[in-house]
Amino acid sequence: MNTTDVRFEILEQKKIAPDIYQLLVSKGYQNFQPGQFVQVEVSETLEPFLRRPISICDANQNALKLIYKVVGKGTKLLSQNKVGDKLRIFGPLGQGFVYSDIKEATIVGGGIGVPPLLGLAKAMYQQGTKVEILLGFNTESQAILVDEFKKYGRVHIATLDGSLGHRGLVTDLIKDQGKTIFACGPEPLYHTLEKYNLKGYYSLERRMACGVGVCLGCNINVTKDGKTARRRVCHDGPVFPIGSVIWGERLD
Ligand SMILES: Cc1cc2nc3c(=O)[nH]c(=O)nc-3n(C[C@H](O)[C@H](O)[C@H](O)COP(=O)(O)OP(=O)(O)OC[C@H]3O[C@@H](n4cnc5c(N)ncnc54)[C@H](O)[C@@H]3O)c2cc1C
Ligand code: FES
Repeated sequence: MNTTDVRFEILEQKKIAPDIYQLLVSKGYQNFQPGQFVQVEVSETLEPFLRRPISICDANQNALKLIYKVVGKGTKLLSQNKVGDKLRIFGPLGQGFVYSDIKEATIVGGGIGVPPLLGLAKAMYQQGTKVEILLGFNTESQAILVDEFKKYGRVHIATLDGSLGHRGLVTDLIKDQGKTIFACGPEPLYHTLEKYNLKGYYSLERRMACGVGVCLGCNINVTKDGKTARRRVCHDGPVFPIGSVIWGERLD
């Protein structure tokens, strides 16, 4: 799939949960890889200068769907854009999930990590993979995309306060430890997957500048064939095999 840097027109900007927005823009990507992301110019001025990385939630040739949470200046500015405004979007970027030969899978999403897993669930469903979908949120009002996920597999929910589904962690819901896991969420979730020695993939987040492997600002260490190697999250990831990342050196 070719990477493009194009001004997309906003078709929809909708609040779907407290501080969480669904952004639909015109023109999309026909063949993106679930787990890939885009770099979004949040305002037409030079402040903030850097674009913000947002995962592709879903896309086809006519539209691109992004779900984002307002956490700081950039995402606040993004939320102030209106239908009809234009946003420059660079993508698709990075390496997504590897799922083509998977017969049975468990998707494990946490909080604002859930959106890229929707495109993955859809793609796996379309290729005939049997998918079990486990989604975790702090509380019911933050439970996003649940009905959309139900189109592609059995969905189980966990909330920390017990307001929806199981009270506790999403990892409590993992029953069949033999299936390949596809995860996106906060890092403690990944530590739990590693503690139980589960196999599959997780998607990492790091502060990013260029988004294309040039500035080295998103470097991490991984274990590869028993040796330590450097990897750029934006270019070599954001998806990595569970257990490969050497934690403890966030650069932000
Ligand atoms: C590959 C990738 C995919 C992402 N996909 C999504 C997505 O689909 N939806 C979504 O809401 N967010 C996503 N993010 C996180 C998003 O990029 C940040 O929340 C955003 O850049 C924050 O910008 P800001 O200017 O609003 O906040 P800032 O003012 O820059 O920061 C505010 C707070 O957010 C934290 N933060 C900023 N950037 C990141 C980051 N990259 N990772 C973790 N914490 C960060 C800061 O440490 C700070 O606490 C993704 C990040 C990456 C790297
Ligand atoms: S953000 Fe520049 S190398 Fe990854």
